[in-house]
Order: sequence, then structure tokens, then C-alpha cells
Amino acid sequence: MIGEVGGQTGGERADGGRPSGGLDLDGLRRVYGTPGHRAFYTLVCRRARHWGWTEPGQSKWRCWRAQRQLEGVLGRKLALPTGSRVLDAGCGEGVVARQLAARFGLRVTGVDLMDFHVREARRLSARAALEDRTAFAWGDFHELDLPAGSFDGVYSMETLCHAHDPARALAEFHRLLRPGGRLVLLGPAAVPRAEMPDTQQALLEPYLDAMVLPGARRYTTRTLGPLVTGAGFRLEEELDATRFYLPTTEALYAYFRVPYAVLRRLGASEHWLGLRSTVEMYELRHHVAWMVHTAVKDG
Ligand SMILES: C[S@@+](CC[C@H](N)C(=O)[O-])C[C@H]1O[C@@H](n2cnc3c(N)ncnc32)[C@H](O)[C@@H]1O
Repeated sequence: MIGEVGGQTGGERADGGRPSGGLDLDGLRRVYGTPGHRAFYTLVCRRARHWGWTEPGQSKWRCWRAQRQLEGVLGRKLALPTGSRVLDAGCGEGVVARQLAARFGLRVTGVDLMDFHVREARRLSARAALEDRTAFAWGDFHELDLPAGSFDGVYSMETLCHAHDPARALAEFHRLLRPGGRLVLLGPAAVPRAEMPDTQQALLEPYLDAMVLPGARRYTTRTLGPLVTGAGFRLEEELDATRFYLPTTEALYAYFRVPYAVLRRLGASEHWLGLRSTVEMYELRHHVAWMVHTAVKDG
């Protein structure tokens, strides 16, 4: 089994397992556990911890609709029949899992390293009467104590960027899929550093450290596709979806640029990393792309 929610440390599994070496659990706890960060995601993002998808001609200000649309894109790329078993690698509070369960009839198992996320995910699924189609457990997606071929689909919604070893995480997704199973990865990637001006690199590197995004150092817009095929997948589609993501980043930047500047002046910005993310991702927008990779484990 994958782990029960840990105790005070949140890092230990009921089966005695430990997170894989290289994992910065304390750093991730600092990112996701600070009250300001949690308040930001609860109030502003209605608990989702991902960006949104806006179609041409739609208003950029409707960020919650954009988030639901992004989850819809994921469901359509997974393209799995009702009742399929799917792994949500890095589920947060389970917003995506519940959307896929409710709208696409999928049976989703979410794993996350933050015990407080797993607890909230379970509570919210019970409240939404989706306990029969969603399950949540503590776990490190680099190494899950689950049998090979357990899932028809695996997805990562803005989580591979946290992986200290993305190749290993992809190999684990490959192992966990049955032959014919489908993988969808959604998230940002930076352009190769050689194509990035020094000023942008000077903004990017401290941002990656602060948000604990080692994966974003291990791959770029160019190398993520080869990493997916290197793990044994057949790449079905590599989509640069930046144009669909930009409206949400623009809207959030407009809302939070000034509050974030004030918090920085007060020396409190580290407690509000969600705000930092909305502001700095926009400032990096010419050198970061939002990618959607869809791949198949051929049988
Ligand atoms: C940006 S949030 C996305 C959460 C969720 N996918 C969503 O869209 O709401 C990234 C999540 O990945 C989790 N995470 C990071 N590294 C992980 C790992 N190695 N194994 C499992 N979860 C991880 C974090 O705890 C966090 O909840």
C-alpha cells in the first residue's frame, strides 16, 4: 500500500517507508505549509494549485472558469472510459481528482507528500460525496509502493517541476501504467538557459529555489519530450499551450502585483509564496512555456 498520512513529521509511511533520497520535504512544507500560502490557495484559487486555460475570445478575468477548463483539457487528453483507474501524482487538496471523478467518471487515486493536503482532500471528497470514486494517500511519486500496471492513466498537474529526479518519476509512472495506459503531464518548463537573457536567469534561479522546483532545472521546453520517450513512452502529442495559459497569468498579475510589492517591502513576502508565484511567473513569461505532454505506454 502507499502510505497512511504521517504524524507530526508527515514524512513517514505506515509501512515504514521513507521518501526517496533527494527529496526536500522541509522545503516543500515551507512552500505549501505557510499560512499565507494556504490562505492564498484556499481563498483565491478555491483550493486548486494550478493555473487556468482560457480560449481565444474569453475574458481573462474569469480565473475559476479557466481552472475548470484546464481540468477539462486534462480529462479529454486522458481520453479514458468511465470507471478507469487513474493516478494523480501530486494531488494537492484533490480538486483535480474530484473534477475528473465527477465530470469524466474516473476512479482517481491521489498521492501527495503534504499530509495536510491529503487530509483536506479526503474531507472535501467526503463532503462532495465522491469518496467512492476518489482515494488519497501520502506518497512520493518517485517511488510508490503499488503493483506494476495498477492504473489505466497517470497525470501530473503542475507537479513534475517539483521532482528532484524527473526521469525516475517518469519511469515510476511507466511502471504503474498497464500496457496501453495513458500519461498526461501539464506544467511549465523554462526555455534552455542559453536562450535566456541574464536578467531573466537572475529572476528564475532564486524563484526555483524558493518554490522548491528542482525538476524545472532538470528539463527544459526542449528536453521534457525526450525525457518522456526515454522513460519508455510513445509521445502522442507535445503541445505548447502558453497562449491558453497567459490570460490567467495576466489577470493574476494585475490583481496581485501591488499587494506583493507591499508585502516585499514589509519583509513578509516569503510567507506568501502563492503571490510570489503569480507575479514572477508573469515576469518570466517570455522564457517559460506551459506544456502539455500526452503519451502512451505501448503494450
Ligand atoms: C503545484 S501543487 C499542484 C497540486 C494539484 N495537482 C493541483 O493542481 O491542485 C504541487 C503538489 O505536488 C506535491 N508534490 C511535490 N512533490 C511531490 C512528490 N515527490 N510526490 C508527491 N507529491 C508531491 C506537493 O505537495 C503539492 O501538493
